[in-house]
Amino acid sequence: MAADIIDGKLFSSGVRGRVAASVSELKARGIVPGLAVVLVGEDPASQVYVRNKGIQTREAGMESFEHKLDASVSQEELLALVARLNADPAVHGILVQLPLPGHMDAEAVINAIDPQKDVDGFHILNVGLLGTGQKSMVPCTPLGCLLMLKDRLGDLAGLNAVVVGRSNIVGKPMAQLLLKESCTVTIAHSRTKDLAAVCRGADILVAAVGRPRMIPGDWVKPGATVIDVGINRIEEGGKTRLVGDVDYDSAAQVAGAITPVPGGVGPMTIACLLANTLTACCRANG
Ligand code: GUN
Repeated sequence: MAADIIDGKLFSSGVRGRVAASVSELKARGIVPGLAVVLVGEDPASQVYVRNKGIQTREAGMESFEHKLDASVSQEELLALVARLNADPAVHGILVQLPLPGHMDAEAVINAIDPQKDVDGFHILNVGLLGTGQKSMVPCTPLGCLLMLKDRLGDLAGLNAVVVGRSNIVGKPMAQLLLKESCTVTIAHSRTKDLAAVCRGADILVAAVGRPRMIPGDWVKPGATVIDVGINRIEEGGKTRLVGDVDYDSAAQVAGAITPVPGGVGPMTIACLLANTLTACCRANG
């Protein structure tokens, strides 16, 4: 039996619609949520992400502030911009696009953002709040994955969840969120012994390793829900294609449900960024 496809495009348009409706209500009270995005340098993939963030922010009725800085900007100048954005009451959310150029200390920059405006959820305070089960800003990609999982499965308590990948942006916060939902969580990574067997035990399998088609269908438990966070660009048959970390064709024969790439997790990330900006704005305005 072929798996159900979890349509992230459709799901994200529902989230964005709800955000836009709440933004309209705020505007009627004279409040306009604002998101500032800072891009340093000219990384092509980052430029695409930042452009899409700006478009979708405006479509949701929010104010978008874009700051594009030269790759040679000093860390002091970037920190001065972050300080200005922290102090600006029209800015409710701040996102500094990663990766930053090599001469910068990304952790220092992220931790300079006002934690209340940290819509990425990367500030050490938000990381700590999430890790201790307290109210925090939740990183957008894992939040999007969780929303799709809960929509599909309802109560997640007691399910075996395997997160493949241990990044600060996806793997670790994803594991924290699943633990909060009372899943039994395993974080697997490149040094995990018998990764195939670990994956085969998963009712929920989240792949976030950044390796094209690394997880084949015979690592998937029949009926499992598979969330593929990978967005890998490959050359195939003379064309550039986007593929996930999961081998979609074989996994879709075994899984109960699976997110496609593209059109799965990707669209949910920006939708959750807008939702986080709305949350930050509501918290700032009582
Ligand atoms: N680069 C890739 N993904 C992300 C993200 O979610 N947030 C930021 N700030 N940079 C990224």
